[in-house]
Amino acid sequence: MSDLIEGYLGETVERKKSRMPAKLDYIQSATGLFLGLFMWGHMLLVSSILISKDFMYGVTKLLEASFIFDGGSPIIVSIFAFVIFVIFITHAAMGMRKLPGNFKQYQVMKSHADNMDHEDTKLWFIQAFTGFAMFFLGSIHLYIIMTNSDAIGPYASADRVWSEWMWPLYILLLLAVEFHGTIGLYRLAVKWGWFDGKDPKASRAKLKMWKKSLTYFFLILGFTTLAAYMKIGMDHADKAGERYQPTAKVIEYKINDGRVA
Ligand code: HEM
Repeated sequence: MSDLIEGYLGETVERKKSRMPAKLDYIQSATGLFLGLFMWGHMLLVSSILISKDFMYGVTKLLEASFIFDGGSPIIVSIFAFVIFVIFITHAAMGMRKLPGNFKQYQVMKSHADNMDHEDTKLWFIQAFTGFAMFFLGSIHLYIIMTNSDAIGPYASADRVWSEWMWPLYILLLLAVEFHGTIGLYRLAVKWGWFDGKDPKASRAKLKMWKKSLTYFFLILGFTTLAAYMKIGMDHADKAGERYQPTAKVIEYKINDGRVA
């Protein structure tokens, strides 16, 4: 508890400098880096539906470790989602330290930011707003995935998106996560000087260009993917709940003349 007070004040009761804020900052950076990179991987995996339903089915089974457990084991996905959830909450808790404590503080910060007209200060406001939104939206998604890991697949996911009304939440979450993720990774690179090189000013301009391109790329990929799930979900609405059978299994079924082998 005294550590927390120290962390908040940035100094101990004896007025010695505390290492706590630096430690918490480091935890925030490390969890942010992990989550940012995880989200890129997540978006690529979810977008497997754009290649084909069979491909998305194959990716799902691979993540359920079907190469070890016959037919895959969704509990692995639940455990993984739980770990991500813990990292997500830790990151959010670290971020909350930096939010204004009341409306008056917010007004002061906002008017400073407006007067400065400094791009990186504006980015901070976007981070605070999108982070706040993600705390609710991301928690709902993670909880549903964690407790329904056996319902991930071309039809199960599309039914959740369309028939179970997840698409409005995904639109908001997608916007928040894409801005928050790329801005966060950009700010990390600037903060820790990862790509400073010989001319930090030129490197920062390059980093900004990367930030913008990656934001566009993942927004386009994300919305195209969401549109694909919505379309499949719409077409499948009258059979919602029915699971996808991969083409190989359907062919096997037909060869066996309708008998399940
Ligand atoms: C282990 C953790 C996670 C798993 C297994 C997972 C899984 C999935 C799956 C299967 C979908 C497809 C739609 C569906 O089945 O409902 C999806 C969509 C989505 N997820 Fe996650 N997710 C995880 C973590 C996260 C986190 C932490 C975020 C952001 C805070 C997130 C944001 C999104 C968004 C925005 C979509 C919609 C993407 C689109 O349609 O383009 N997910 N996720």
